[in-house]
Amino acid sequence: METSGKLICRQRQVLLFILLLGLSQAGLDPRRYSVVEETEGHAFVTNLVKELGLGQRELSKRGARVISKGNKLHLQLDQETGDLLLNEKLDREELCGHMDPCVLRFQVLLENPLEFFQAELQVIDINDHSPVFIDRDMLLKISESSPPGITFPLKNAQDMDVGRNNIENYVISPNSYFRVLTRKRSDGSKYPELVLDKALDREQEPELRLTLTAQDGGSPPRSGIAQIYIEVVDINDNAPEFEQPLYRVQIPEDSPIGFLIVTVSATDVDTGVNGEISYSLFQASEEICKTFEVHHKTGKIRLKKQLDFERIQFYEVNIEARDAGSLSGKCTVLTQVMDVNDNAPEVTVSAFTRHIPENSPEAVVAVLSVSDLDSEENGKINCSIQNDLPFLLKSSLENFYTLVTERPLDRESQAEYNITITVTDLGTPRLKTQHNLTVTVSDVNDNAPAFSQA
Ligand SMILES: *[C@@H]1O[C@H](CO)[C@@H](O)[C@H](O)[C@H]1NC(C)=O
Ligand SMILES: *[C@@H]1O[C@H](CO)[C@@H](O)[C@H](O)[C@H]1NC(C)=O
Ligand SMILES: *[C@@H]1O[C@H](CO)[C@@H](O)[C@H](O)[C@H]1NC(C)=O
Repeated sequence: METSGKLICRQRQVLLFILLLGLSQAGLDPRRYSVVEETEGHAFVTNLVKELGLGQRELSKRGARVISKGNKLHLQLDQETGDLLLNEKLDREELCGHMDPCVLRFQVLLENPLEFFQAELQVIDINDHSPVFIDRDMLLKISESSPPGITFPLKNAQDMDVGRNNIENYVISPNSYFRVLTRKRSDGSKYPELVLDKALDREQEPELRLTLTAQDGGSPPRSGIAQIYIEVVDINDNAPEFEQPLYRVQIPEDSPIGFLIVTVSATDVDTGVNGEISYSLFQASEEICKTFEVHHKTGKIRLKKQLDFERIQFYEVNIEARDAGSLSGKCTVLTQVMDVNDNAPEVTVSAFTRHIPENSPEAVVAVLSVSDLDSEENGKINCSIQNDLPFLLKSSLENFYTLVTERPLDRESQAEYNITITVTDLGTPRLKTQHNLTVTVSDVNDNAPAFSQA
């Protein structure tokens, strides 16, 4: 046992020496063979008899052997025919990974006399792998304000194959916004880059779904896909817009405080805070500020103060809707105050003769003016006195009356008259004002003394 062990040891030393010698001599010019990976069965590499110019028996006589480093390569030598065959299918990717070319070294050794030569077996890639995206779904958030021409590098796909069988290019599903470019890194790998061709508009298209395809250059080519989901990020590019630019409302002047006049409403197509609307009075006069209030959130416009048609009949209230950015929209609320018959007519007696001498023909007793603050029917006035009195109301100018005697008066039959001037307006309800005048008939010597007994 010990001697045979020593012998093997010595043989190894000799072999090593020869190997080193051989490398230094023949290593520069190894014999080159090639085989296509994944070839089924025992793929033929070469025929050593022909290759080395030996006789048929010589191989087996000289104990020909094939040696490979690390035993990676399983070659089988047919001693009879001299055919060098593969023991098994080779997987280039497993053997060499991304190394290209994939070259496996081996030596052919002959004994008696010792002879060996270097050889290389190149494993030729076939396109047996498709490009694969590690991230099959990619999410991109792109602002709608991004200018055309801007680029977004995307994650690349990987292909186990090498050379032409590796990734050739990237394509994207047809769309009107993006195209994709195939970029090359310094290590030779290719990655896709998305290029924006046309400005995005979130309000038109808030999201896009694109399919990115990586293609290799094999024949036939293989491909792998990834989905790109693009979320268009909003910018505040839209101002709030009112449903109506003009609201017309009519409200009775006696509407209570807090009365809901109208609800204005604006919308903003932007999202988030860019679409949050706040309402306020716009360029409002002090009077409008005192009279109206608008709820910043709901847009409800309410009365803050009692209206008075007799003072102001019309308000132009401007409302602004502002989003959280600084964009705003405007609308106008034309508020017409409707008169309510809330004012009684008034009578002003500007001249009055209390004592009317009897027997005089038509005498002017009083001059009076009537007025009503209300408008239209509410302000029209009917002026009258009792029917059973010998007095008349004459209308002179509009709203001016003179109270005159209808006929000469006779103190002896009635010395005093209570005249009630009634003014009513024609509104609903009718409002009435009365004014009382007391007229006395002064005596005139119109009766001769008369004896009660002749
Ligand atoms: C005015 O008042 C008188 C007396 O009450 C009445 O007869 C007359 O119809 C009234 N006129 C109107 C227009 O109401
Ligand atoms: C007029 O009114 C006064 C006071 O109300 C009353 O005393 C008097 O009797 C009245 N005269 C007539 C003629 O009704
Ligand atoms: C006017 O006289 C009438 C009848 O006498 C009476 O009912 C009314 O109260 C008086 N109005 C005023 C304001 O004195």
